[in-house]
Amino acid sequence: MLKEAETDKMDGAPNGAKANKRKVFVKTYGCQMNVYDSERMADALSTQGYQQTDNPEEADLLLLNTCHIREKAAEKVYSELGRIRKLKQARAEEGADLMVGVAGCVAQAEGQEIIRRAPIVDLVIGPQTYHRLPQAIARARNGEKVVETEYAIEDKFEHLPEPEKKVIASRGVTAFLTVQEGCDKFCTFCVVPYTRGSEVSRPVGQIEREARQLVAAGVREITLLGQNVNAWHGEGADGREWGLGELLRLLAGIDGLERLRYTTSHPRDMDDALIEAHRDLDKLMPYLHLPVQSGSDSVLKAMNRRHTAKDYLTLVERIRAVRPGIALSGDFIVGFPGETDADFEDTLRLVEEVGYAQAFSFKYSPRPGTPGAERDDHIPEGVKSQRLERLQTLLRKHQSKFADNCVGATIDLLLEKPGRQPGQLIGRSPWLQPVIIDAKSSQIGEIVKVRITQTGTNSLFAETVQGESGSATI
Ligand code: SAH
Ligand code: SF4
Ligand code: F3S
Repeated sequence: MLKEAETDKMDGAPNGAKANKRKVFVKTYGCQMNVYDSERMADALSTQGYQQTDNPEEADLLLLNTCHIREKAAEKVYSELGRIRKLKQARAEEGADLMVGVAGCVAQAEGQEIIRRAPIVDLVIGPQTYHRLPQAIARARNGEKVVETEYAIEDKFEHLPEPEKKVIASRGVTAFLTVQEGCDKFCTFCVVPYTRGSEVSRPVGQIEREARQLVAAGVREITLLGQNVNAWHGEGADGREWGLGELLRLLAGIDGLERLRYTTSHPRDMDDALIEAHRDLDKLMPYLHLPVQSGSDSVLKAMNRRHTAKDYLTLVERIRAVRPGIALSGDFIVGFPGETDADFEDTLRLVEEVGYAQAFSFKYSPRPGTPGAERDDHIPEGVKSQRLERLQTLLRKHQSKFADNCVGATIDLLLEKPGRQPGQLIGRSPWLQPVIIDAKSSQIGEIVKVRITQTGTNSLFAETVQGESGSATI
């Protein structure tokens, strides 16, 4: 591998003037962990002289960072590859060579099969192996079809270059930081344990260093990421075993870091220390994504979630007791095999009881290799659609109610980016809703006191408040 990297060097790729002309376009599908991985892949490629571009037409390397969670997500990749085939042909006619790579969870799940179905693909690289991207590209450039998905226990983060300060700054004032990867829970509907592998936590020191680098480059809000983020554990500075609650406490001590969030958590891993972090840490925003999937105990059992609806509701109560007004968000699957009308009614009842501020809901999609897909009591598509419609109507009602309750509240707003209209900026409320306000672009990165004036479609409008203290409760 080293030898091939050398060949790449002789080709004038890394750091040279010629290399600077290379451009990479990365398209990201799926969850926030893929967003984070795309950035880190871009970091790895920058050492090879690749600059990121927003325009696929001018790219020398096109990378699709893919998602395998539902059939639709995976199929999107193949339709995109169909479009890219035409682009690659057009580029070839101009005498240019467009390299095409598939990364992410479809890459991990399907490997070689991707190249068989879409021969224009030059390279397939998994979520655990993308630190080998520079060598893989060098091999692909030598004409090899590369499939780089085999991994041993290795820490890819130790092999990835640190992004430059100006690169971090160009990505905005909020950032993702992956602290945990993979999943050992094996819910019977889910591909993640197969695509992302078993649960691994990054060490405290590595996480703290990365958080400090982000903050030094101007980041003011960090969202800690993991497929099971609250399963994170590691040896703390005091030599004890820490969980996510202790990690958040440490990071909250970083000067200049104003806000912390984390996602996605599993109800079984919400321990006391994490709940106490919601009580004690002002920097920890009052928002929690806590997927339940179903409100029916028999469906939860069949899904291997290993908790009941009652366990979940008790947990919600405990969290609300220490952080009243916290915005709860969730994920739901309707039409898991065997789900009866009565099971579905249980889900609606749970939703009514919790009152989510926001939620994601999906029709069950059978995924190859998962136990759910093997069952012989699949729910007809029409029934799934009807259930989804009813659930989403209810979830929308709760979301609007939560948003309506925010009107009149004075909050601290982190100004993140320009809005659609000139003179507007967008930030996020503590409860993660987008908030639109009139402000100057020079104010991006500031935290300002605002009063919520009205609700919009999936957003809130606000006005600046002078000389009043903000409060994050409603
Ligand atoms: N680790 C998280 C979820 C990660 S996947 C958790 O345990 O909650 C994100 C969401 O996609 C899941 O919460 C689930 O609602 C949905 N999902 C996963 N597999 C699915 C499938 N086969 N069909 C439909 N939705 C699915
Ligand atoms: Fe998938 Fe379940 Fe793991 Fe979440 S906990 S990633 S839903 S297997
Ligand atoms: Fe999709 Fe992989 Fe994330 S399957 S949801 S990109 S972990």
